[in-house]
Amino acid sequence: MSIPSKTRQFILAAKVPLTLADMGRDDTPLVLANSAFEALTGYALDEVEGRNCRFLQGGIAQPEARAEIRDALAEGRELQVMLKNRRKDGRAFDNLLFMYPVGQGLFLGSQFEMPPVARIDSSVARHKEIVGVANAIAEEMAGQRLKLNRNSSDAVAQTVRTWIRFGG
Ligand SMILES: Cc1cc2nc3c(=O)[nH]c(=O)nc-3n(C[C@H](O)[C@H](O)[C@H](O)COP(=O)(O)O)c2cc1C
Repeated sequence: MSIPSKTRQFILAAKVPLTLADMGRDDTPLVLANSAFEALTGYALDEVEGRNCRFLQGGIAQPEARAEIRDALAEGRELQVMLKNRRKDGRAFDNLLFMYPVGQGLFLGSQFEMPPVARIDSSVARHKEIVGVANAIAEEMAGQRLKLNRNSSDAVAQTVRTWIRFGG
């Protein structure tokens, strides 16, 4: 499946990491990845084209998340899942992956790095209250970030879906 040129340009220019994988080919290889994906992972398009994106897991076992992804792909439905991935330099990060069927057997993937929620521990009784508040704020911010990421990748997926449908 060749990618319509407008769709290709849109994905390449996006500021958030995006990938396209082709379900119509053996082992669902990547057919596109943008420079924001390269900034996040360290891998450029010519290094990932033709490979299944699981190489990012770098040997970190996560059978439940993988089974969830396989089910969503088989059923052609969108999914949000947290994965442990490795950058090209070996450093691990939490990848919040959004996947969407966008038509023509293509799946769009949107990768976000989730910073760990900064939890503060305090054994000192008089600090307990302030530490509780700080932790609640950190969790609230992580939740807001997740919502923002989802909204932006939902909008991107909707645009890509429309262009693929109308051949743009
Ligand atoms: C569009 C798309 C993007 C994906 N992006 C990632 C990713 O960034 N990191 C990752 O570990 N897996 C990613 N995957 C999931 C893997 O490619 C694979 O589907 C998953 O590991 C489950 O299959 P497996 O058990 O055969 O490996 C992506 C899949 C698709 C379709």
